[in-house]
Amino acid sequence: MLSAKMEQALNEQTNAELYSSYLYLSMASYFKKINLNGFARWMEVQALEELTHAMKFFDYIGERGDQAVMKPISGPPTTWDSPLAAFEEVFKHEQKVTSLINNLVNMAIEERDHATNNFLQWFVSEQIEEETSADDVVQKLRLVQDGGGLFMLDQELGRRGFTLPPGTTIIGAGAAARSC
Ligand SMILES: [Fe+2]
Ligand SMILES: [Fe+2]
Repeated sequence: MLSAKMEQALNEQTNAELYSSYLYLSMASYFKKINLNGFARWMEVQALEELTHAMKFFDYIGERGDQAVMKPISGPPTTWDSPLAAFEEVFKHEQKVTSLINNLVNMAIEERDHATNNFLQWFVSEQIEEETSADDVVQKLRLVQDGGGLFMLDQELGRRGFTLPPGTTIIGAGAAARSC
């Protein structure tokens, strides 16, 4: 079993991942409203990815014999000044999530909880990718002006597909195994 402190911290991270999903869904709706459907698709895919992150924590807590506790999810903002402002917030948010993951790793090391440290390493790598992909869009948005450039970028972001990360399912593998 997890220590009480670690159990609580992993539950908080589940909540943080669900908030991320909520935030990106809110951004998807904002982009739809301003007719940038490619940007909206990028955000919808991002929201689904965050859901898979939450499920990884949910499953892991269960695998360790503890209970995942669903806490209220805060309501994210609903509007942004511009596509650039929204993506700057994505980048800032992902940097914050990286520091949350790093804090969890520090806690696992302090507690000599090797299993949790090992579990968290996937997120350490994932956060590098999350920050890079958000920053990539920020940089492109700084290059383009409204109009043609924005239209082209909307087309590009609209091509984003959703694939489950290897070893991930929307309903956890643990749950499937238990129901057999
Ligand atoms: Fe995440
Ligand atoms: Fe993320």
